[in-house]
Amino acid sequence: MLYGADYNPDQWPEEVWDEDVRLMQEAGVNIVSLGIFAWSRIQPAEDVWDFAWLDTVIDKLHAGGIAVNLATATASPPPWVSATYPETLPADESGASYWPGSRQHFAPSSPTYRRLAGELVRRLAERYVHHPAVVMWHVGNEFGCHLWMDFSDAARDAYRGWLAARYATVERLNQAWGTSFWSQRYGSFDEIFPPRLAPYSHNPSSMLDWRRFTSDMLLECYLMEREILLAAGATQPITTNFMGPFKPADYRRWAPHMDVIADDCYPDPANPNRVRDAAFQRDLVRSLKPGAAWLLWEQATDAVNWRPANPGKRPGALVAETAQSIARGADGIMFFQWRQSRAGSEKFHSAMLPHAGTGTRTWDAVTELGARLAALPELPAPGRDAQVALVFDWENWWAVEERDHPTEIDYLAIVLEWYGAFHARNIQVDIVGPEEVDHTYALVVAPALYLLRDEGASALARFVDDGGTLLTGPFTDIVDAHDHFRDGGFLTQLGPVLGLRFEDFGALAGPSSGGAGVGGLSSDAVQAAREAAGRGAVTFDLDGAARSGRLVAEAVHATGATTIAAFTSGPHAGAPALTRHRFGSGEAWYTATQPTPDALNAVVGVVVAASGVGPVVADLPAGVEAARRGDLVTLINHSDQRVEITIDGTDAETGVAVERVVLDPQGVAFVTAPARAGTFASAARAASTP
Ligand code: GLA
Repeated sequence: MLYGADYNPDQWPEEVWDEDVRLMQEAGVNIVSLGIFAWSRIQPAEDVWDFAWLDTVIDKLHAGGIAVNLATATASPPPWVSATYPETLPADESGASYWPGSRQHFAPSSPTYRRLAGELVRRLAERYVHHPAVVMWHVGNEFGCHLWMDFSDAARDAYRGWLAARYATVERLNQAWGTSFWSQRYGSFDEIFPPRLAPYSHNPSSMLDWRRFTSDMLLECYLMEREILLAAGATQPITTNFMGPFKPADYRRWAPHMDVIADDCYPDPANPNRVRDAAFQRDLVRSLKPGAAWLLWEQATDAVNWRPANPGKRPGALVAETAQSIARGADGIMFFQWRQSRAGSEKFHSAMLPHAGTGTRTWDAVTELGARLAALPELPAPGRDAQVALVFDWENWWAVEERDHPTEIDYLAIVLEWYGAFHARNIQVDIVGPEEVDHTYALVVAPALYLLRDEGASALARFVDDGGTLLTGPFTDIVDAHDHFRDGGFLTQLGPVLGLRFEDFGALAGPSSGGAGVGGLSSDAVQAAREAAGRGAVTFDLDGAARSGRLVAEAVHATGATTIAAFTSGPHAGAPALTRHRFGSGEAWYTATQPTPDALNAVVGVVVAASGVGPVVADLPAGVEAARRGDLVTLINHSDQRVEITIDGTDAETGVAVERVVLDPQGVAFVTAPARAGTFASAARAASTP
């Protein structure tokens, strides 16, 4: 188990470094991510290099038995870069420059930035690639975290090249973007600009490509550095830190280029759904490399500095959040950062070693956690343990949230609502792309899958045909990979699987409705008109209870499906609201509205019962989270009550056999309890672990 933090000794005088190593040992730290923002210290001027301090720090860490995840330091170019090479600066939508003075002020497509960053990486690699302390490489930092879209001239040139490589001829691009609309036909790639500030909506197909391009530019920066490290002979794992469900970067495309997935996660103590949201994030990053452990690369020991208000964690939450990562596949627990800064924007951010020193609640928590992690036995690799897969797709995210749709959709919020109904039941879930759906899952949930690629559609149909259960909902299977309607209406791919024909969206006015408005109507007026029409929600009956839906009430006609619940109000009262259809050896369910949380929970209850999937541990007290990782079951008590849980197994920390576990609030137990055939993760499914 790796345990440590970002380490920024360049912020401190040399006298502090020995104390750092001594206290790291006391805390149980065995690895640090070193020098992530140290470019200006390593290269104070273009032709001046200073590695002496870094040599000293690395040697001290090595002598102290602390391994180094060496940063390439390219995330914050020094002032001389911006002053000498203004073409490295990114631009906003209106073409105005972002200026230095913060961090991440570089244009990812800028050849000059790449040349300068590449030279830094080459020198670092050549110097340290064989150093025995260096066990891993940390490329850049949180690519795109602050600056995910660059509209500069460097981006313009790169975008034209990227599009030419994608489409070969401008005629094919015109087809893909549907440029006959609004006189947008291009005569050559040189006529294309990034989607800079425009009077009204940009072409949605072009926006989808722009999103693909911006994700690819960030990835190209990572790959450039990775290739330099490999060329210098690096044999250590190379990675960068992800940010969970981060919209600008399609991490599923990035994952094959990471030797190990590393992720940063900062649950908001004020978010009532923080446990659910963090569980989703951890399941997402685990699912990016099935069968492999991942690393929690940054979390906070206590408060952060970057939210409007920054309360600390409640007592015990640090252990509970850490356990959630381990439960869901992490083999490393790291923090931002080792020693709290004295100056700069992050001086109020908590650290392993607080500004107030070692005699603090945080230091005690950090040292206790270090000792507890060190006592853990070697953990099993996370298997493909889940029976349920939730489809979550970046291209769909980009497309479904474009403007000018029947209603505004917050894709991640919808995905989290569906995920939450499984999380609350402690049913384990993998988070996959539609193309990754296969027969090893029993139940697949695919919400709001507006953009459905041909391969994804085939995989979902095959899955049901092979005996799986599919649950999908409104605003699904609307467009192809170019964001075009397909011939033949909507639900063209999944209609036969669902036993449905789709007629109309039936958009409902929601509380957040608004937008630019057209034809002189202000958004307030549009909103008022919609509310006056009384179309804010819709109801349907399920199992004798009245339920409600939001966003849309679609008009679908059963062409083979059975209506399980019908709308009782709204534009399509009497029409199907929830349907079920036998297809091949499996079945497919459809909700024609987005159920509100209670209703969604009821729908999931019905489908779970029909599909036979089960929880990691049955009958857990409310507020207790359970996750399986091979033979290891982790139990976390997020409630305010002391709870008692019946479970047969061995306490993984003490090696003692247990039949029950008692957990205080925020208490955690790791129990080795192999899955029994016929229950969660049956023998047949376990055998399919890659
Ligand atoms: C991100 C960055 C770190 C630091 C933390 C603070 O994760 O990678 O450098 O700024 O946020 O929470």
